[in-house]
Amino acid sequence: MTAVRDGSGMTPAPARHGLLRIAHLSDTHVLSPSGVEWQRVLFNKRITGHANLVLNRGRVYRRAYLEAVVDAAAAMADHVVVTGDITNLALDSEFDAALALFGALARRVEVTVVPGNHDIYLPAIHRERRFPHHFGSFLASDLPQYAIDLPTGRFPCVKLRGPAAIIALSSAVPRPPFVSAGHLGAEQLQALAALLDDAQIRRRLPIVLVHHPPVDSGLRIARLRDGLVDAAALRRVLGGLERGIVLFGHIHRRLRCRLPTAAGALDVIAASGAALDHPDDAVRAGFNLYQIDAEGRIVSAEAHVVDASGRSLRQVAIAQTPGCR
Ligand SMILES: [Fe+2]
Ligand SMILES: [Fe+2]
Repeated sequence: MTAVRDGSGMTPAPARHGLLRIAHLSDTHVLSPSGVEWQRVLFNKRITGHANLVLNRGRVYRRAYLEAVVDAAAAMADHVVVTGDITNLALDSEFDAALALFGALARRVEVTVVPGNHDIYLPAIHRERRFPHHFGSFLASDLPQYAIDLPTGRFPCVKLRGPAAIIALSSAVPRPPFVSAGHLGAEQLQALAALLDDAQIRRRLPIVLVHHPPVDSGLRIARLRDGLVDAAALRRVLGGLERGIVLFGHIHRRLRCRLPTAAGALDVIAASGAALDHPDDAVRAGFNLYQIDAEGRIVSAEAHVVDASGRSLRQVAIAQTPGCR
């Protein structure tokens, strides 16, 4: 089930059937098992986040669904990628609960995570580097010379795995209440451009992980409030790629579209919130599963959503939207 490392100790090959299987889950919004620590919630942005949880999210986020999703992803994939919003209010107790979940997962299958806006909920969380403190071990780069230092860790982080180069980006930055927009920044984008030009990347299928949407219009997201502020700059950096996949979360809805580039096109795919109880399959808790062949081609992309029992999953298609910009 797990990837097997080759002689270099750096580039594991797909474990079975010559296919690399990547499970994509997102927006787990892990809550503290002991409830909210009120002294850490009152008098700051967290009060709005907690109100949102109580009024909105608390009814539909189910820990049992998340556990079923994580268990099924571990059973079906060689590598699990998590595109952010791992916690809900970035409380240490939430990070501890998330670490227990993903630490157990990492003993079964390799795991890579990127931060979401909920993981750096306050400027202090950012300043104190709480995300890399808790999740830095999930972000060990095979090409660390390209990474720049950010309060969320060192990015871009790349993992060379058989035919794929999994590239983690950080778009999480602190924002005032009611704003959740992300930002990559010129320095990280410059580092990404240099990384994409490396021969190790050019001969692989690049799989970019970012929490915020790399596309905006068509998703009806007000970019400056909820989207990726410099999405256009990211698309310019990716514009020279002949092929690739961009995986994201944040919108809590599963979708897939093709983003044309100068030399070809990219598959842009979002995962649903991994714990959400919702009647719409595009929103309901689940994960996406991508199979990549030895030549770096996408053989299949499908989703697995929690069924009515809440304990097992059923396969569904990922709806393809006509196009994305
Ligand atoms: Fe989220
Ligand atoms: Fe988010």
